[in-house]
Amino acid sequence: MFSEVAFVLGLVVGASARPLLGQHAQRIDARQLANEYDFVVAGGGIAGLTVADRLSENPKVSVLVIEYGPFDQGEDGVMVPGAYFPVPYLWLPLSSTPQKALGGTSYGVPCGRVVGGGSVVNAMFFHRGSAEVYDGWDSLGATGWSWSDLFPYFKKSENFNPPDAKYAAERNITWDKSVHGFGGPVQASYAPYDYPGSANFYNGALRLGIEPRKDPNGGDATGIFRLQRSVDPKTQTRSTARINHYESVKASRPNYHILPNTAVNKILFSGKTATGVDFVGVSDSKSGTVKAKKEVIVAAGAVHTPQILQLSGIGDAKYLQQFKINSVVDLPGVGLNLQDHLVLSVSYNFTNNLFPNGGSLQANTTYATEQRALYDANKPSAFDLTGTTGNLIIQLPLSEWTSSVRSIVSLASKQDPSKLLGGSPNAGVLAGYKKQRKLIIDNLSNDGEAVGDISWNTGPTTTLYMTRPLSRGSIKINSTSILTQPLIDFGAITDPTDLEMLLAIYLKNRELMATPELAGLGPLETSPAPGLKTNEEIKEAIKKTLQPSNAHQCCTAAMVPKQDGGVVDPQNKVYGTDRLSVVDASIWPFVPGGGPQASVYAGAEKAADTIKKRHKLL
Ligand SMILES: Cc1cc2nc3c(=O)[nH]c(=O)nc-3n(C[C@H](O)[C@H](O)[C@H](O)COP(=O)(O)OP(=O)(O)OC[C@H]3O[C@@H](n4cnc5c(N)ncnc54)[C@H](O)[C@@H]3O)c2cc1C
Ligand SMILES: *[C@@H]1O[C@H](CO)[C@@H](O)[C@H](O)[C@H]1NC(C)=O
Ligand SMILES: *[C@@H]1O[C@H](CO)[C@@H](O)[C@H](O)[C@H]1NC(C)=O
Ligand SMILES: *[C@@H]1O[C@H](CO)[C@@H](O)[C@H](O)[C@H]1NC(C)=O
Ligand SMILES: *[C@@H]1O[C@H](CO)[C@@H](O)[C@H](O)[C@H]1NC(C)=O
Ligand SMILES: *[C@@H]1O[C@H](CO)[C@@H](O)[C@H](O)[C@H]1NC(C)=O
Repeated sequence: MFSEVAFVLGLVVGASARPLLGQHAQRIDARQLANEYDFVVAGGGIAGLTVADRLSENPKVSVLVIEYGPFDQGEDGVMVPGAYFPVPYLWLPLSSTPQKALGGTSYGVPCGRVVGGGSVVNAMFFHRGSAEVYDGWDSLGATGWSWSDLFPYFKKSENFNPPDAKYAAERNITWDKSVHGFGGPVQASYAPYDYPGSANFYNGALRLGIEPRKDPNGGDATGIFRLQRSVDPKTQTRSTARINHYESVKASRPNYHILPNTAVNKILFSGKTATGVDFVGVSDSKSGTVKAKKEVIVAAGAVHTPQILQLSGIGDAKYLQQFKINSVVDLPGVGLNLQDHLVLSVSYNFTNNLFPNGGSLQANTTYATEQRALYDANKPSAFDLTGTTGNLIIQLPLSEWTSSVRSIVSLASKQDPSKLLGGSPNAGVLAGYKKQRKLIIDNLSNDGEAVGDISWNTGPTTTLYMTRPLSRGSIKINSTSILTQPLIDFGAITDPTDLEMLLAIYLKNRELMATPELAGLGPLETSPAPGLKTNEEIKEAIKKTLQPSNAHQCCTAAMVPKQDGGVVDPQNKVYGTDRLSVVDASIWPFVPGGGPQASVYAGAEKAADTIKKRHKLL
């Protein structure tokens, strides 16, 4: 162990003794750090690595990414879709506060802690929300973040790999070339394998009047469609941000460093100007500082970005006072506005299911061995699908889930937003929440963005998602140490409208399972509400089973006007500061439907351009 002073000296000596920043982009340990970089990025997840890659395209610009987690070891559990088991790289243990509308239960909080962040541990579904989502952001004050503004960045981030034409025709896979990108870093593809039960699901949905969507990535993400995954079809392995924004460029980037296993503790300021960060080794507790000449960029994900900001004195000054943290900028919105998607698993025993199905890899070792051999021989295999998932998803607006739109809208309109935010919210935060509610409630009556999804894995599980929550949660520090977790309150179903929407999806799923195509397979519901008939009974059963997080946490440093509880401006800059920005899923005003990762990649591409522009690096 060396002292802090020796450490800092070591940095200076180290930097001058070597050619500037070494030969290649490289993972470094603290001793190899330069003492200053142009940009220091806090968090090496999807957004952090996207921005770091783009900024370091200019060889004169030096970039350091500091990441809490390690580099993965290329294990099957993260690389092979069918072997999906990313537990070593999840942030464990991380738990929510007791959820007051869910009987005081606490829940695990899934998120990635590894170089590549969520892209290394996620289920790989890769698709965009509806245009209405981004247009809604723009109208709430994220000016320049509308669908048409983001569209070029969705394309820029993607390398779309169309499926084999014959296979696609057999499986009803359709797409619209004009909406995809073909030269971007993220490999996107459809699994070249499927289970026979998919046709039952597809035809059952059609019978209920659910429309096949030619391509959900063109601005209308509703209907039934085949899921695209962030998987490289040449190898059928995961396309992670580590691979697509670091490994792919590192040979030519001596100016791009990643320091893993290290937590950014706080942002250093000179007045209101960010000048660098303070960091601490996660396992050795060695601390140090590094300077940022141009900007500090926060990208620690929606759970940890607000923790770093608050520890740095950016947040509700009154709240921070109790931890004796000096306020740099009083921004009460930091950590508020937390959103996620609700998840409800519906389990079945089938008396007459088809084989193979989405449960066969787990249930039948002969089949699993056979499929693994096919996978290893580069042939279509069940290992091409994320373990335990299917290929199809149904996403619908409220009016297609239920005929009770008017009563649901009326319930939403009756809620007291101030009470929902806990009683005496900050006036600006309340004003911003009211604007969001108005927009979402208005849109519930129209056939716009989906409010939820159904995905049957063709085996024992159907997963339901409620993706248009009106409830809001929060992230608040609970100590002055970055190494202890913040208080994570999902605020799940504190607005009872959210439970009504989930109920509507649950009831539609019962109708779907009762179509001849699916009823013929003999599904017997075993959870959450077998045999229950009244809505009240079903809602109670749903409450006991639902999960408040689908690992889609977002929106805790929202890009809305400061007077509406906002944290960053449309150029990603934190209000009231200089040389400090946030670029991850924290900045969204509200959560998109479906998987968020495509939106994180695109938003980070946009942020990188914005940052280049303000530093005249374009
Ligand atoms: C299990 C799981 C399944 C998912 N499935 C899907 C899916 O199928 N499709 C989809 O679209 N999305 C999915 N997601 C969500 C998606 O991965 C996230 O929305 C996305 O990764 C968010 O990107 P981000 O850049 O905001 O944060 P992240 O990618 O989470 O990156 C944040 C990084 O910051 C690091 N960090 C945190 N604190 C600090 C600190 N103090 N110092 C330094 N580093 C820090 C973290 O370790 C992490 O690596 C899933 C997520 C999980 C966890
Ligand atoms: C494809 O669509 C046709 C007609 O719409 C249907 O008969 C067939 O079963 C579908 N196949 C699959 C695999 O979904
Ligand atoms: C298990 O898988 C093998 C190989 O695919 C198959 O022949 C067998 O019928 C399966 N067993 C059951 C019970 O489905
Ligand atoms: C959603 O609501 C906003 C604000 O009320 C409105 O401008 C927009 O047209 C709505 N979109 C749809 C599809 O209803
Ligand atoms: C918050 O801090 C208190 C006091 O140190 C502690 O008892 C509690 O367990 C912490 N909560 C969480 C969720 O870590
Ligand atoms: C479902 O199947 C399991 C295993 O065969 C059995 O133990 C259970 O009783 C069944 N449940 C229902 C509700 O049929």
